[in-house]
Amino acid sequence: MKHQEVIQKFEPKQHNLLEILHALQDNHPQNYLTEDALEETARYLRMTKSSVFGVAGYYTMFSLKPRGKYIIRVCVSAVCEVMKFKEVLLDLEKELGIGQGETTPCGRFTLEVSECLGQCQEAPSMMINQEVYNNLDKERISEILNIYRAK
Ligand code: FES
Repeated sequence: MKHQEVIQKFEPKQHNLLEILHALQDNHPQNYLTEDALEETARYLRMTKSSVFGVAGYYTMFSLKPRGKYIIRVCVSAVCEVMKFKEVLLDLEKELGIGQGETTPCGRFTLEVSECLGQCQEAPSMMINQEVYNNLDKERISEILNIYRAK
């Protein structure tokens, strides 16, 4: 879907900015906000380009550069730290052959970190796009990645 079509699903009100940015990012196959999309949003909401770019750059949930089809976010907050999120990250890095903030050459996965995902009682946790995965260990990580590799 073209970004104009995504934007026009919302009323041209400035309080819709975050929702529009989320929809635009989700609509892009590489999970990011393009300069064109941000400029179009600014025109539609009658905002300055710099304020729209400022908001997009401020929130870590938005990306201004291309990412993978699946965004993996590993929780690095306190409870997950106690439950060894570092091992989770290492296992993911080994399985995917990339480091934090990187995207696999095939464009399938991007590895990021996140603050608490609200799953502390079942830590360590991660999200892949909108899905949450808990009680992670090496075997479970492999199983989960294989599901996404087969998609
Ligand atoms: S600290 Fe990791 S889910 Fe809450």
